[in-house]
Amino acid sequence: MAFLRGFLVVVTLLLSLVSCFQAPPCRFSPRHSQQEILNNPTNFVNDILYWEGHFHANNIGYNTANGMSYDGTLINGTTGIATDKHPFSAASKESLQIMVYVHALAGDSRAATFLSPTNQKAAPGIAANILKTKLNTYLKFNQTFPGYGGFLPWFLADQADIQPTSDWVNRVPALDNGELIWSVYAAVQVLESSPNREWKTLAKAWQTWLDYTASNAARIFYNGTGRVCAVADLGDQSLPPNSPSQNYTCEGTGLINDPYEGELFTWWLYFFGGLSSSDKNALWEVKRPQLVNYSGALVTSRHIGPITVQEGFWLSSHEQWKVLELPYFDVSIVKRLYNNAERVRTCNSVLMGRNPGMFASVNNITDPVTGQIPGYISNAGVPEVSNQTVQELDVITPYSVFPTVLFDEGIGLAWYKNMLDGKGMQNRYGSTESERRDGIGISAFVSWDSKITTVNALLGGVAKYSKMKMHKDGIYDEFVKITQREYGRVFGNTLKGENIRLCLPTFSVPVVNVSDFTTCR
Ligand SMILES: *[C@@H]1O[C@H](CO)[C@@H](O)[C@H](O)[C@H]1NC(C)=O
Ligand SMILES: *[C@@H]1O[C@H](CO)[C@@H](O)[C@H](O)[C@H]1NC(C)=O
Ligand SMILES: *[C@@H]1O[C@H](CO)[C@@H](O)[C@H](O)[C@H]1NC(C)=O
Ligand SMILES: *[C@@H]1O[C@H](CO)[C@@H](O)[C@H](O)[C@H]1NC(C)=O
Ligand SMILES: *[C@@H]1O[C@H](CO)[C@@H](O)[C@H](O)[C@H]1NC(C)=O
Ligand SMILES: *[C@@H]1O[C@H](CO)[C@@H](O)[C@H](O)[C@H]1NC(C)=O
Ligand SMILES: *[C@@H]1O[C@H](CO)[C@@H](O)[C@H](O)[C@H]1NC(C)=O
Ligand SMILES: *[C@@H]1O[C@H](CO)[C@@H](O)[C@H](O)[C@H]1NC(C)=O
Repeated sequence: MAFLRGFLVVVTLLLSLVSCFQAPPCRFSPRHSQQEILNNPTNFVNDILYWEGHFHANNIGYNTANGMSYDGTLINGTTGIATDKHPFSAASKESLQIMVYVHALAGDSRAATFLSPTNQKAAPGIAANILKTKLNTYLKFNQTFPGYGGFLPWFLADQADIQPTSDWVNRVPALDNGELIWSVYAAVQVLESSPNREWKTLAKAWQTWLDYTASNAARIFYNGTGRVCAVADLGDQSLPPNSPSQNYTCEGTGLINDPYEGELFTWWLYFFGGLSSSDKNALWEVKRPQLVNYSGALVTSRHIGPITVQEGFWLSSHEQWKVLELPYFDVSIVKRLYNNAERVRTCNSVLMGRNPGMFASVNNITDPVTGQIPGYISNAGVPEVSNQTVQELDVITPYSVFPTVLFDEGIGLAWYKNMLDGKGMQNRYGSTESERRDGIGISAFVSWDSKITTVNALLGGVAKYSKMKMHKDGIYDEFVKITQREYGRVFGNTLKGENIRLCLPTFSVPVVNVSDFTTCR
């Protein structure tokens, strides 16, 4: 008897070991109820991370040979298997990739579920190796194309050595590079605080790259009197920045003076660009007209509010990117405003009626015959509280929830589930790009922007790591002081609508003529 009992205990133990990792089904979203997610999102989160991690694969989300991201890949509209990848990428996608690695390096178990679900212990090493490969690629790019001063244009990533895409020869954008830089900054923090010698060496090498971009930031992007070029044109990409034959000019009249995600670049220039104190002050003066107090009713026909928010450009979720990377939420007025923005985002989607999701700049639905993307819908958000009131609001996207997730994981993920439940919105690489809110089409595509923004929100963003290094570098207090000054002068301390609750979806994606992918049913 005792023997038998002992035997049973051993068998049970073995079974529990075997079943300790169970891959969730590809089409997991409809199996979770909204109530379960609101009560405890953990199981749903694990399923999300497990499947989103399938995007982190060679020839899908990145190139293992050089460690570089690919923008994304089309998938077959019937099977959901990857077809034509976008061989190009940009510094913004790099930033999303590196932010995930920051958490993996720090030993975060969610990041490990994404990177290496069956062997979580391997995740930090995987991240460090790719970061090493990636840095070599950046440095080689800098050798071949020194005109970029270490910054990245949109590039082709499908060869071992990257090169500018044909439309970015002799041109470089500030916004995407601002996003990239602070993600590297956070990575340096985690690498250098590890006892691992190799990691410390890697931290130094990345810091050298950061310092190099800082030494060129003003030369390439600064136009004087607080003006920063949105895109800089290079005289000759093969000449170093300090060559007498090299020159840089602003492309057109475009300035990066927005109080949204473009601000990440402003901070880099501000802290490390070597500007005079009057130039540094001017950076904020140029930005001021765009930071606007919007306190109207949300939807005038069906009144909710008033709610005070920072006026959006479109209020696309994409605009909120900066809070993933720098400790903005340490400034209470910013945190409260961004929380209000999610009251607006979630409740607006309900008040619109017959709307199962939320909005963000995203790729349009693919043509069901050709499988191609007809265009990118930039102007999607909440027109009622935005500078740009003409918007295209037929297409919703799962990643619209990422800023909501930062405030309330359960409610953010209830919206995410509501969109994933739509036919075809899950595939072998996780969530699908976007869908029509009337159910007549989806975008058979997967990308860093539409997928890994949410993953990074689930990881909490990297601001807590940037903050540690900002303390070391002696810039944290100034960051807080200036952010408080700029927001305080527009919003004071009293906001309206802070008692309004975030809204939950009340309408499902209509089942019309889209089917689930055959490999994810
Ligand atoms: C998608 O895959 C199916 C089944 O393999 C194939 O018949 C179809 O031609 C593919 N569609 C495209 C656009 O490649
Ligand atoms: C980038 O290339 C320039 C020009 O060759 C060189 O001086 C600089 O040290 C390189 N930067 C880095 C980070 O290696
Ligand atoms: C600012 O940009 C304009 C347009 O590119 C250019 O003509 C001007 O020389 C620039 N000024 C400075 C100081 O860079
Ligand atoms: C900028 O540099 C390029 C390459 O050296 C040169 O051809 C061009 O004439 C220069 N432009 C100006 C305005 O100096
Ligand atoms: C998106 O596709 C719809 C058709 O599905 C089209 O009417 C609209 O103009 C497209 N917009 C963009 C920006 O591609
Ligand atoms: C949009 O922003 C621009 C630049 O700050 C401003 O001139 C314009 O009045 C704004 N429009 C609206 C509708 O807020
Ligand atoms: C679904 O219906 C819409 C509108 O009738 C049509 O444009 C689209 O091609 C259809 N899609 C499929 C996959 O049948
Ligand atoms: C922001 O706007 C609202 C409504 O227009 C107003 O009540 C509030 O005083 C404004 N806040 C500041 C600091 O101007």
